[in-house]
Amino acid sequence: MTALAYVNGRYVPLGGATVSVQDRGFQFGDAVYEVWAVRDGRLCDMDEHLARLHRSLGELQMHAPMPDMALRAVLGETRRRNRVRNGLVYLQISRGAAARDHAFPPENTRPTVVVTAKSLDWRQQQQRASKGVGVISMPDIRWGRRDIKSTNLLPNVLARQAAKERGGFEAWLVDPDGNVTEGTASNAWIVDKTGAIRTRPLSNDILHGVTRAVLLRLARERRMEIVESPFTVGEALAAREAFITGATNPVVAVVAIDGRPIGDGAPGPVTQKLRDLYLQAGA
Ligand code: PDD
Repeated sequence: MTALAYVNGRYVPLGGATVSVQDRGFQFGDAVYEVWAVRDGRLCDMDEHLARLHRSLGELQMHAPMPDMALRAVLGETRRRNRVRNGLVYLQISRGAAARDHAFPPENTRPTVVVTAKSLDWRQQQQRASKGVGVISMPDIRWGRRDIKSTNLLPNVLARQAAKERGGFEAWLVDPDGNVTEGTASNAWIVDKTGAIRTRPLSNDILHGVTRAVLLRLARERRMEIVESPFTVGEALAAREAFITGATNPVVAVVAIDGRPIGDGAPGPVTQKLRDLYLQAGA
């Protein structure tokens, strides 16, 4: 089967899919994106991701390239044509292709829309979750609008590479006050010494994770104790449990930071319960 990409209205072989060298996503990172997890052939948390997409577009003064109905159809069709049962669907919308100029291009510039889909090995994802992952900590050197899901991901790329080189799965980024903001592609959580589930409150400092929001709702419905407050790496090391959330890694235990174990170095019961809750809710 040839993998296909949707590019500006056409489904084309992924290997030969192209956008202009003048595309502003390519030249400036002037683009937004979304990632949907696909489980059992369904795009998870569809509406929440679309809502965040509109927010990102609005914050960057970009227009939606098509109505939601059409976008949903393209996302679903890209999944279907690539026969993805478990994996992800990626959407990127850039401000379009235009002669290079930092300021916005003319109003009539057509945004570039790209959708791809990729299968992931669910067994491997389950194994990762059952073993837990290690993270490294690094200074958060990103810009001040991390709530916008833009393709400006260079600090994330460098931090994730550093994690990989040190045998970690993710990097936890740390603000100048010593508090963890989030991971390079996931939100950060702990189950603190008192047993409360803790994650950083929403602000411009972090991406407003869809998985985070859904999990908070599910946990609150079950009257689990939640505190939205920042925590330091030291607090995370002293915590009972820690975990990350993201579309493609829904609730994965963090068992070590910078090579030092959290708790007994194995995934804990609260993390497991929250993962089950999220996956059973099926979104
Ligand atoms: N990343 N924080 C950052 C910086 C992210 O990039 C992501 C998602 C998250 C989790 O958000 P959500 O639960 O909505 O997936 C938090 C995607 C998966 C990516 O960049 O591939």
